[in-house]
Amino acid sequence: MKIVPFSPELKNDFVELNKVWISAMFRIETADIEEFSNIEKAIENGAQIFFALDDKKNVLACCMIRPCANNEWEILKFAAKGMSTGTGAGSACFKACIDYAKQQNADKIIIVSNKKLSQALHIYRKFGFAEVPVDKTKFPFERGDIAFELVLKHENIMTKSEKISIYETVLPQIESLVLGVKYGISSLANIAAVLQRSLNFFWTGFYVVEGDTLLLGPFQGDVACIKIPKGKGVCGTAWQERKTIVVEDVEKFPGHIACSSLSKSEIVVPVFSASGEITAVLDIDSDRLATFDDTDKMYLEKVVEVLKGYERFV
Ligand code: SME
Repeated sequence: MKIVPFSPELKNDFVELNKVWISAMFRIETADIEEFSNIEKAIENGAQIFFALDDKKNVLACCMIRPCANNEWEILKFAAKGMSTGTGAGSACFKACIDYAKQQNADKIIIVSNKKLSQALHIYRKFGFAEVPVDKTKFPFERGDIAFELVLKHENIMTKSEKISIYETVLPQIESLVLGVKYGISSLANIAAVLQRSLNFFWTGFYVVEGDTLLLGPFQGDVACIKIPKGKGVCGTAWQERKTIVVEDVEKFPGHIACSSLSKSEIVVPVFSASGEITAVLDIDSDRLATFDDTDKMYLEKVVEVLKGYERFV
């Protein structure tokens, strides 16, 4: 199987594959006809269509991505031969669209779909799309009853003084949240939530110490690996070396454990108990390079100090 971008000889396959599923499950709408008759124009305006071809160059699936307002891109007209090929062709075209949007530096990808299209919805979720309300003003289709988005740019670029001001605001908030809370996991969960809400990084969470392993604790963000042995990855290294580790480029950190390919830089801060034992690590990932510096180190070390009353989390 091969993934190729749009070329005029593939136009007919694109139209036909889409007409089949739309008319089988819904009805062809005016907006569909307009899209089918303006394909070259859409491509000129920055859109792209990816096709999965089999060895004999038959089209197995196709998927379109186009730029919209505010650096948002939309995935649309996702179709597969016989509605599903069972070969991964649909997923491969879909992934090509996501990669294309990333190359174009998109902030967000949006999709409007229909609840009946369970196989497509499964693919959207598999690639990390989250359900959001349908904005009917943006999407003219009758069949649009469910919408998804994938945020690619999570962080606003903060100036140093903005960052300091955020940390200064959240620190007392975090201190008061933890006060009198006996169950340590609840405190970890609330701290992860406050940090994520305020700083909006790609992934914010804790790994807790159990024996010789770090176990995934409360976090905000995409699913992550469950166990990290002592000395492994950035988290296991911060634990072993008993110090904060700031990684400007995760690809340059030997042994970095990639939970998501979107993660580009990272900071890991050990959590010490009053007796000096490491009980957990705070891990924050960014989807931009070189996000974390000494300011983050200093404030996040203050943040985890509020957890020193807990001798263990599991
Ligand atoms: N990157 C980490 C693993 C945890 S995820 O980033 C959430 C590491 O190398 O330890």
